[in-house]
Amino acid sequence: MAEDVVLNRWAKEYPWLGTGPVSTESCISKEVYEKEVEHIFSKVWLCVAREEELPEPGCYKLRRLDFANTSILLIRGKDHNIRAFHNTCSHRGNTVVVPEHDVEQLGKKRVFTCRFHAWSYDDRGRLIGVQEEKLFDTCFRKDENGLSEISCDVWEGFVFVNLETSPTVGLADFLSSMGTHFSGYPYNELTHNFTYRTVLNCNWKIGVDAFSEAYHVNTIHAGSFPGTFSTGLQMVKLYGDHRTAAICFNPPKDSPAVAAISQRKARGSLVGNVAGTTLPQTINDEGRDDFSFELSVFFPNWLLHVAEGIWFTHQFWPMGYDRCLWEGRYYVREPRTHSERWALEHAIVLQRNAWLEDTATMEGTFNSLLSGAKDFMLLQDEEVLVRHGYHVLEKYLNKDS
Ligand code: FES
Ligand SMILES: [Fe+2]
Repeated sequence: MAEDVVLNRWAKEYPWLGTGPVSTESCISKEVYEKEVEHIFSKVWLCVAREEELPEPGCYKLRRLDFANTSILLIRGKDHNIRAFHNTCSHRGNTVVVPEHDVEQLGKKRVFTCRFHAWSYDDRGRLIGVQEEKLFDTCFRKDENGLSEISCDVWEGFVFVNLETSPTVGLADFLSSMGTHFSGYPYNELTHNFTYRTVLNCNWKIGVDAFSEAYHVNTIHAGSFPGTFSTGLQMVKLYGDHRTAAICFNPPKDSPAVAAISQRKARGSLVGNVAGTTLPQTINDEGRDDFSFELSVFFPNWLLHVAEGIWFTHQFWPMGYDRCLWEGRYYVREPRTHSERWALEHAIVLQRNAWLEDTATMEGTFNSLLSGAKDFMLLQDEEVLVRHGYHVLEKYLNKDS
């Protein structure tokens, strides 16, 4: 434990969270999963894209959302706004953009034409072409039969959707202080990125929880980050439904030679103690010189991490009570030289190894909980973000009662 860890400091700062055991039922229950879809995932703002993925008018992103049995179609219009629609034709419901990949695809079209009977839609989802239009009922009107629009808004270049017909809370209010905390970071300048994704046979919350604490670092990451990060969280802030904390590190005394060269060439790794020149003032507001990165959970399923010269996200998309899609995305500045490119590849591999270590526990945890042997999990003070997650979950699930 880091020397400056004060016993039960987070319990003292957030006493309303309590310190008792937390039920494991919501991780293994089909009924709870159905409630989560109804009360949470169908009603809150969910991050589905970066603006840079749709750079020009006509660019689109098709994105599968399994929990809602839908695919959403994001289109950048000629007015440069991004709008979201269900990818469902107004005629007889065929897909308008044919999915060519399981999860998502990017492309560009002038007109979006359904291949079944060639109804066509413009960049704003308006129905603009109907074959044999005269043969439809005399009441039929093209201007009433565009694609079904989904609420869509953008924060710091992140594109969010809300599947509720008329969301009661706008994106800015939903993010609130969390949005302020993470505003001003140069997300749109660090665009060189890679993504790993896989389907995990576990409940989505087991994934979110595993990335919401640093207690596991000394054990799970003993191989990839030996003794690097202190186990104590710093600067924990609970912003409404969201939560964030700083992870600090102990500079490794004997870095492997390749890692040391890579780190000098490009700050593409978390293991770099550099001054916070690109971080917003809200991050590391205590000005700690051992700050490494900010770890956060935007409720419900999106984790955004920012560091000097790197940012990365994890997202866990529910596919059932017992399955989820994990996506890890990692962003750095475009390399300018071959040696920087090499250094980034090294950092990417290091990160991939760490993520493999993280994801390796998730299915085991879920399968073991299914046995029913343990009704509760026991959380220590440094697992305060995990505890907060279940607290917020309770609030949403019990909203009606
Ligand atoms: S279902 Fe799309 S044109 Fe018929
Ligand atoms: Fe980890």
